[in-house]
Amino acid sequence: MSDPAISNNIESHLVENRVFPPPAEFAQRARVGSLAEYERMYRESIDEPDKFWAREASELLWQEPWDQVLEWKCPDARWFLGGKLNVSENCLDRHLSGPRRDKVAIDFEGEPDDRRTLTYAQLHAEVCRFANVLKARGVGAGDRVLIYLPHVPEAAISMLACARIGAVHSVVFGGFSADSIKDRLADSGAKLIVTADGGWRRGKIVPLKANVDAALKDGDGQVEGVVVLRRAENDVTLKSGRDVWWHEAAAEVSADCPAEPFDSEHPLFILYTSGSTGKPKGILHTSGGYLVGTYATTKYYFDLREDDVYWCTADVGWVTGHSYVTYGPLANGATVLMYEGAPDTPDQGRWWKLIEEHRVSILYTAPTAIRAFIKWGDKWPKGYDLSSLRLLGTVGEPINPEAWMWYRELIGGGRCPIVDTWWQTETGGHMIAPFPGATPTKPGTATRPFFGVDAAVVDDAGVEVGPNVGGKLVIRRPWPSMLRGIYGDPARFQQAYWEDYKARGYYFTGDGARRDEHGNFWIVGRIDDVLNVAGHRLGTSEIESALVAHPAVAEAAVVGRPDEIKGQGVVAFVTLKGGQTASKETADALKKHVGTSIGAIARPDQIRFADALPKTRSGKIMRRLLKQVASGQTVTGDTTTLEDLSILARLQASGEE
Ligand code: PRX
Repeated sequence: MSDPAISNNIESHLVENRVFPPPAEFAQRARVGSLAEYERMYRESIDEPDKFWAREASELLWQEPWDQVLEWKCPDARWFLGGKLNVSENCLDRHLSGPRRDKVAIDFEGEPDDRRTLTYAQLHAEVCRFANVLKARGVGAGDRVLIYLPHVPEAAISMLACARIGAVHSVVFGGFSADSIKDRLADSGAKLIVTADGGWRRGKIVPLKANVDAALKDGDGQVEGVVVLRRAENDVTLKSGRDVWWHEAAAEVSADCPAEPFDSEHPLFILYTSGSTGKPKGILHTSGGYLVGTYATTKYYFDLREDDVYWCTADVGWVTGHSYVTYGPLANGATVLMYEGAPDTPDQGRWWKLIEEHRVSILYTAPTAIRAFIKWGDKWPKGYDLSSLRLLGTVGEPINPEAWMWYRELIGGGRCPIVDTWWQTETGGHMIAPFPGATPTKPGTATRPFFGVDAAVVDDAGVEVGPNVGGKLVIRRPWPSMLRGIYGDPARFQQAYWEDYKARGYYFTGDGARRDEHGNFWIVGRIDDVLNVAGHRLGTSEIESALVAHPAVAEAAVVGRPDEIKGQGVVAFVTLKGGQTASKETADALKKHVGTSIGAIARPDQIRFADALPKTRSGKIMRRLLKQVASGQTVTGDTTTLEDLSILARLQASGEE
């Protein structure tokens, strides 16, 4: 692999010699208690996948049994054919007959310190009631519902209510803008929106309902109704005949809603995520396979115990909030902590206070958050009792060894295994991660694959490369929670994931990686034009489109540069239209514009004005050069195809904006 970014990273990883075996006490109680046991089970899952997955699936409730575990006609996978189930019944009703009935399912804390707990019985009642609200508003099986809520219990309630009646939810992260809602509405054809007046973030109210109104200002299109949760109590306008308050609609319906059976392949949700080109892709997940995958990975990787208090810090707007706040943990009957707000409100000790007060035993978060805490100082975690923690997890981006060590020592007190989970929106659930009671860990590697996951590092021809050689990360066979397509776009589905290794039927992840001599995977990161900013995926092309839509901009190219906290920062090279001035004001206006077009997370950290962008003779922007310029590196490699060499010198000289 010639990409210098991949080789640099590999060299830095190669010097990592620290190995941390699972703590003996943890291993003794763990579901998978030794490496030999993992290897035996992994082998079985690869040699007899049907047997393995059927066993996992049979721990769930099926209203009709499946007659075939898998049908695979690349790229179309169908799991548990003929089987019928209700996903919400599995996450709720299944727990009501025993002691879990009165166990806390959701332990909620809002940013302003309001608290609320919902037992499984109470959550069940709320979900049934809201399912009846949806039905009363004309939502039926297969209809799409857009959910745009803060990170509050109603987010999980509305997702599960959709699942209960076979409606397909599409959650839009509350940090996304009105334009983003509009695009997702148009693509998904959602007929109902569930939102809130506002949500709390850093002491301010995020005006969710106002954003929905702005998205619908040019006409409601197919949207027939908007259900509005009262959360922040800010003023909002309700359009009569279309908008209703959640609490008023809920008061009019019963809390009885029997769980109907749906086909295992019935669509469960669409979640939009960035790709290397064009607008975000609507990743489609279905019911049976997704639930089996998230159920099994939650159970094994967090080694869940009945008395755990589990906290995944992700927002429901991302896939982690779907699989590991909602479906996986609730299918396992866990107590899930949900915290609505920012980690530094009212001060930088908020998370540690949450852990102390709620006696959190499992913490699952992103490296970007860990790096921010390191910067804020050890005094914050040191000021709280974190002894309830027994397992730590990370997700979303490669974790740098220093952050890993800090997490282990300062947060985990040196006693908690760290589960570094590699996966994607598309994979639905964890794919590569250490088993906490079995796999020796090293800072920076997600270690080895989950059961049934045939991951490999291959060259461009699809041939597996040797140990410690960089290449592309592929998955060589289907797995239950894999995406079933890009909503409404089978050609893009084929092109984005299956084209590169078509003859072999491999799924291409978009990531570069290497595998060491012990079989551990070291993920380098995206090798396509997708950025990972603070653990969130952003397409460079989306940001470029937003920039060129601004009247001052002629052309734009967006690249990532290393960022100490966020992993990657966004740098935009912009050429302006004639008569426009390259000034700080213009740069600020452009940053703001991207914020309103996509959302605050996409705001460029730096705008660099250029009189031209480096292009090949055939007119392609040379991103490799821009990346090097953006990160202040010396430009290396082949520049002979560059149309005008003087552009490079001018770009390097162009200062910070
Ligand atoms: O590049 C990988 C990185 O995040 C991408 C997936 O992003 P998304 O679909 O938004 O899902 C994020 C939450 C699962 C991957 O292609 N990534 C995710 N987890 C890790 C990671 N990179 C390295 N190590 C990880 N543990």
